Amino acid sequence: MRIRPFSILMGPASTGLGIARRTRRGRSKERFQVSCLIVTALLFVPSVGRRADGKTVGPPEVAWKAMTYQQKKAYMKEAVAPTMKPIFQSFDAKKFKTFNCATCHGADGADRKFKMPSHDIHPLPNTEEGFKAKLKSEPTWPKWTDFMAKQVEPAMGKLLDLPVFDPKKPVQGAFSCGACHRLEAAKSE
Ligand code: HEC
Ligand code: HEC
Repeated sequence: MRIRPFSILMGPASTGLGIARRTRRGRSKERFQVSCLIVTALLFVPSVGRRADGKTVGPPEVAWKAMTYQQKKAYMKEAVAPTMKPIFQSFDAKKFKTFNCATCHGADGADRKFKMPSHDIHPLPNTEEGFKAKLKSEPTWPKWTDFMAKQVEPAMGKLLDLPVFDPKKPVQGAFSCGACHRLEAAKSE
C-alpha cells in the first residue's frame, strides 16, 4: 500500500504511525521522502497565468485583449467567477445556487473554447423596438434588465477593464449585453 499524499498534508500526527510500521518492510521510508519531495515541488510550481508573486495576470496591468488564452482562463477562474458569483446569487440565490463557468459560457462552453456569446443564455431581441416589446410582454424582464445593466455589466467592465457600452457615447470595444447574450436572428416582417 502506498502512503497517501492526503495523510502527508494532514500533518505528522497521522503519518507517524504509518511510516513506522511500513519502514519495517524497507524501501517505504525512501518512498515517503520521495513523495514529500514531490508534494513540496508541486507546491512551488507557479501555475499558468500567474505572476512570480502569485497574483493572477490580468487587467488593468495587462489588457484583456493582450492576454493569452491560458491567462484569460486563469483570470476567469481566479478573478471573474469569484467576483461575479455573489453578485448573481444576491439577485437570485436559487437560480444561481450553482455558479460556474457554464453559467455564463453555457454547457458547451469548454468544448467551444469559451467563445462568447453563450449558446445557452437567453437570446435578446436585436432591435430596440423588439426589446421594448419584450419588456412589456415578459413580466420578469424589467428587473433582469435592470440587474444586468446596473450590476453585471459594470462589474464585468471593471474586471476586464473595458468601458461599458453606452448608447449615448458608443465606443469601439465596449463591453455590452452581446458579450454574453446572442441576439435573435433578424426576422423579416
Ligand atoms: C460572469 C460570467 C462569466 C463567468 C462566470 C465566466 N466567464 Fe469566461 N468570459 C466571460 C465573458 C463575458 C467573456 C468574453 C469577454 C470579451 O472578450 O468580451 C469570457 C471569456 C473567456 C475566455 C476567452 C475566450 C476567447 O474568446 O478566447 C476564456 C478562456 C474564459 N472566459 C474561460 C472561463 C472559465 C474557465 C470560467 C470558469 C472558471 C469562466 N470563463 C467563467 C464571462 C464569464
Ligand atoms: C456577463 C454576462 C452577461 C451580460 C454582460 C449580460 N447578461 Fe443578461 N444574463 C446573463 C446570464 C448568465 C443570465 C441567466 C441565464 C438566462 O436567463 O438565460 C442572464 C439573463 C438575462 C435575462 C433574463 C432572460 C430570461 O431567461 O428570461 C435578461 C432579460 C437579460 N439577461 C438581459 C440582459 C441585458 C439587457 C444585458 C445588457 C444590458 C445583459 N443581459 C448583459 C449574463 C449576462
